[in-house]
Amino acid sequence: MKYQLLASKTLDKKTDCLVLGVWDRTGLDAPLEMLSALVVQQCTDIIKKGDIKGKAGETLLVHAPANAATSRILLVGLGDKNKFDAKVYRKIVRATAQALNKTPAKTALVSLVQLPISNRDSAWATTQLVTEIGNAQYRYDQTKSTKAEKPALSSIVIAAAADTNRKAMNAAITAGEAISLGMSVARELGNLPGNICTPSYLAERAIDLGKRNKAVKTKVLSEKQMENLKMGSLLSVGRGSKEESRLIVIEYKGSRKAHAAPYCLVGKGITFDTGGISIKPGAGMDEMKFDMCGAASVMGTMTAIAKLGLPINVTAVIAAAENMPGSQATKPGDIVTSMSGKTIEILNTDAEGRLVLCDALTYAERFKPRTVIDIATLTGAAVATFGDVNTAMLSNNEALAQELFALGQDTLDTVWQLPLDDEYQSLLDSNFADIANIGGPRAGTITAACFLSRFTQKFQWAHLDIAGTAWLGGGQKGATGRPVPLLVEYLRKQKD
Ligand code: BES
Ligand code: MN
Ligand code: ZN
Repeated sequence: MKYQLLASKTLDKKTDCLVLGVWDRTGLDAPLEMLSALVVQQCTDIIKKGDIKGKAGETLLVHAPANAATSRILLVGLGDKNKFDAKVYRKIVRATAQALNKTPAKTALVSLVQLPISNRDSAWATTQLVTEIGNAQYRYDQTKSTKAEKPALSSIVIAAAADTNRKAMNAAITAGEAISLGMSVARELGNLPGNICTPSYLAERAIDLGKRNKAVKTKVLSEKQMENLKMGSLLSVGRGSKEESRLIVIEYKGSRKAHAAPYCLVGKGITFDTGGISIKPGAGMDEMKFDMCGAASVMGTMTAIAKLGLPINVTAVIAAAENMPGSQATKPGDIVTSMSGKTIEILNTDAEGRLVLCDALTYAERFKPRTVIDIATLTGAAVATFGDVNTAMLSNNEALAQELFALGQDTLDTVWQLPLDDEYQSLLDSNFADIANIGGPRAGTITAACFLSRFTQKFQWAHLDIAGTAWLGGGQKGATGRPVPLLVEYLRKQKD
């Protein structure tokens, strides 16, 4: 997609499709002097006739009058003026992007970024618009024999106020493009089935990323190398599978100081989670191909920040394994020794995410990271608590938690914090090892994070449980690309 910024007093520009907002009850949004008389006449007629009511996200495509600069007009409902906010805006640009894809228009002129949104500027609105247009263009067809038809749309003109800050607006476009690219990388990896997207497949994609970017170096550790590092916990998860586990390390060096301490991302990459010997019930088990969405969001984020060329260092660690039952598989009651030296009694082989993450987190210590954020589809309890609206966040550092919370609100890729009180830690007591891998039926998201907290004492750490937000089920089954927007925004805000 090509984006162009237009800072002008008029929207009377040649385009295949002019997008105009319609308020509920109060009508056309654009300052009328920006539009040609022909277009104003046509639109007010249509609105008067009631073909579009102006409900938020409602769309209507109409042909423009013969002599107008545009051939089509896409009317988009903006909702009630008094209820307009950032979330409504996102709904509107999402509907706009989807409606534009259904038209044969190759070019479109959009001025929605000028809508006044409280606490947001037009740069924010632009990043959202570009992100949503990119997201709407994503099609999954890798494993379909008939490929999806590509939308005709290939060029967007973003009309900004005449006195706009061009530099900020262009940076906002670039950010939106990087975020949507990162989201499509995350969605594609997430959507791929478990028989294609294996631990070694993830490793190959990470190696590709290193080949395509000068600033990115990828290193892949084999099971043998992990044995040498004594990663007994991570290795215990892949025991039942024929697929070899992998530890994938992606280093992005954008800082002028090559040795600047990195920000660290750690991703759960269970390419399929059967539960292992503690096997899951059959219904809906296919969705456990999405159990590598943490890893996928890390890959997407690394792709995005490399494209943006952020001036910081970022190191990603992905723990990739397939959790299967088998004659060699780990059994309930087995005790393993993690890289940290702590012993773990595996009471449930379905609590495997924390087992791979704990060794990846210990491995991250060697980078002396400024902060570590792990991203994992870790607990069904997070789905029960937050559904698909908020990502669960737990942290050992209040400032980091507050920063992520605020950025979640800002990007609309929201997170909500759960407590990590000491009182929960004793639920992980074991009679036979230093720690058990489950904490019983209560407070499941918290006890999972408590488990991880035993391995994160040497750095500032936040845990994002994306079990509810990383993919949607039902008719819209598919990966969402979350929390790439949050992670990219977090890294964009960091100083060298
Ligand atoms: N990958 C699952 C978590 C999950 C379940 C994500 C459903 C999304 C939807 C994870 O490995 C798991 O199985 N967790 C168990 C932990 C339990 C055994 C303590 C869970 O949440 O049931
Ligand atoms: Mn599991
Ligand atoms: Zn899992």
